[in-house]
Amino acid sequence: MGEADIARALESLTVEEKAALLSGQSIWEAAGAQRLGVLPVTLTDGPHGLRMQDPDAQGFDLGASAPATCFPTAAALGSSWDPGLLTRIGQALGAEARAAGVSVLLGPGVNIKRSPLCGRNFEYLSEDPVVAGRLGAALVRGIQDAGVGACAKHFAANNQETDRMRVSAEVDERTLREVYLPAFEHIVGVARPCTVMAAYNRVNGVHAAQHRWLLTTVLREEWGFGGVVVSDWCAVTDPVAALAAGLDLEMPGTGGSSAERIVAAVRAGQVTQAALDQAVARVLALPGRTGTGERPAGEPGWPEHHGLARLAAAESAVLLKNEGAILPLDPARGTRVAVIGELARTPVFQGGGSSQVNAIRVDNVLDALTAASERLVLSFEPGYTLSGQDDGTLRAEAVSAAAAADTVLLFLGLPPGAETEGTDRADITLPGNQLRLLQEVAEVSQRVVVVLANGGVVEVASWEENAAVILEGWLGGQAGGAAIADLLLGRANPCGRLAETIPLCLADNPSYLNFPGSEGTVTYGERLYVGYRYYDAKDLPVSYPFGHGLSYTTFAYSGLEATVEGQGDDAAVHVRFTLANTGAVAGKEVAQVYVRDLESSVDRPVRELRAFAKVEVAAGQSTSVEFTLRGRDLAFWSTARGGWTVEAGDFEVSVGASSRDLRLTATVTVDMPPLARGLTGESTVSEWLADPAGGPLLRHAMNNPDGPSRAADPAVLEAIGPLPLSRLNTMSGGRIDIDGLLSQLAATAVVP
Ligand code: GLC
Repeated sequence: MGEADIARALESLTVEEKAALLSGQSIWEAAGAQRLGVLPVTLTDGPHGLRMQDPDAQGFDLGASAPATCFPTAAALGSSWDPGLLTRIGQALGAEARAAGVSVLLGPGVNIKRSPLCGRNFEYLSEDPVVAGRLGAALVRGIQDAGVGACAKHFAANNQETDRMRVSAEVDERTLREVYLPAFEHIVGVARPCTVMAAYNRVNGVHAAQHRWLLTTVLREEWGFGGVVVSDWCAVTDPVAALAAGLDLEMPGTGGSSAERIVAAVRAGQVTQAALDQAVARVLALPGRTGTGERPAGEPGWPEHHGLARLAAAESAVLLKNEGAILPLDPARGTRVAVIGELARTPVFQGGGSSQVNAIRVDNVLDALTAASERLVLSFEPGYTLSGQDDGTLRAEAVSAAAAADTVLLFLGLPPGAETEGTDRADITLPGNQLRLLQEVAEVSQRVVVVLANGGVVEVASWEENAAVILEGWLGGQAGGAAIADLLLGRANPCGRLAETIPLCLADNPSYLNFPGSEGTVTYGERLYVGYRYYDAKDLPVSYPFGHGLSYTTFAYSGLEATVEGQGDDAAVHVRFTLANTGAVAGKEVAQVYVRDLESSVDRPVRELRAFAKVEVAAGQSTSVEFTLRGRDLAFWSTARGGWTVEAGDFEVSVGASSRDLRLTATVTVDMPPLARGLTGESTVSEWLADPAGGPLLRHAMNNPDGPSRAADPAVLEAIGPLPLSRLNTMSGGRIDIDGLLSQLAATAVVP
């Protein structure tokens, strides 16, 4: 519906009809307005594949969805660090949604991985907001290229499953602004999703679905979001408060009760007609942005999508270690390969819950290896049961096969149901029966390649000495088995990078003492020190750092140039360097740019990812890589000033292959235009002296006619620097004219 039609509809619709438009007419359909020819809009999951339930299903029926392509889960795709790939996947997801008559696909999930225990981390992209934002935006662009609406979810601070419908995430504003909101902000700004989903949880005591600061002040007034805010399913506790806060569409429907409450509230003046009309206008505009389910002819390209899923799984796998360059498998170094592990035959390729796809087909790595490895002699042993029950016979048979092989491929991972919506994990360890098998296999073979299948990270420190090679395959979707075979055989070169740190142990994780909270509250006590921001601030050893991943080739970085243009918020830092492939095969490197503020008046992480690029380089070749960082990339959120703030001074710009493998570093100096920092009598002497406008004024006022200025004496400054100026005035017998200084400052300050 265009604007004129919407305006006419608002004139024509009754309050009852308007209120009815603001909630679903079924579990998966938003109501239409039949009298005006407005068709219902179908919304359904999910982030890595279409989960289209039987339209007549009366509730969640996770087993009864139509066949669809199950792409790698977000934990895998987040490790691809490849926006272009994610856009292609979004386009394929959109095509399948369109073919099924779906208007809005409920994804991507871009919540930050605060704790590895979160049961839905397989559905989320990263511990870092830049990775989550850029990859999330790429998925949204792809889905919406196909004429289907996307949905950035779950807004906001939905970082656990425990008590998810009631728990209040107690988060300070700076942490929200710098960690938990930026991915949504970036997606809204650059990809313009048709919808944003309000989360189940409360944020600082207020349900997200009726959180006016989140849904209106930040999302709409600051970020300019013009789409529909839809609730998570059954997330609304008070439809009137939700409407007043900025929620547009409650899903699923409530059989008319919410509409009745809204009508009564409008009639009683609790909610303005304007607020009602604003929400209705957005809901009426949705079909125009998403289509109302016209189905293109023919099937949506499943064979091609399977190929894309296989490519994506290969591009997302992370080669954590490769001692002795055992991979890729080389028949010249032994043809007898023992394939061990039930997961090689019975893959776990996705998590549980609303994202669960009824995959069209599923590859397993055993069949893929058998079909492809002409010169290898393969044996197979299940080795363990997925139930976790110990089985000494299975183990002994596997150990015997390992002893007879030149190389062992040992497939380990989390069993079905270990990771699901609605439940958090209790630990991050692999099942005991699998670790026991690894221990015994390592006693008979030095060439053990462990291949992992998991969504959230698992602990590796306690067992990795038993593995020469570790390939993290994540929950790789329906084609993950073939992709892993491609990587093992060298048909694909690993190029995934960790988007979530693997800590030495769970207790090292910064949220450890505050997860999952208690009595309805979870305190984000670690503040903005989430993931590598914490581990790097404490220089804590980790098993494998954020951004880490090996290749079958090697890369060298050289010739870093970093130059600054402009000042303050308008500063631009141009970064350029040369990336060379110094190995024997073509490969893709994820070049990462981290920034450190060396002179900050507030605490800041020692480094933050600010840009990245996945670059393909042929063997022996090199290429120039360039980035431009903007003011926002240098800024922190100042709680005192209530805004993004760039402070003058030196910044360290580092480029490298992970947050702990920084190859080149340059220091740049950012100047500031004179601006009133909002100095007051409560500002300290140091703050006054550091201010481009306030400093000269105070130094002049402190001049000592009988000798050198007190402001130049380090001993004096150390003593009085921390003092609020008004106290200094008292101590100096009223010699400092505060009001005079402030009026002079007001006359000189340049307000940005
Ligand atoms: C679920 C999930 C959300 C999903 C929705 C519809 O509870 O939290 O991600 O899109 O309900 O299934």
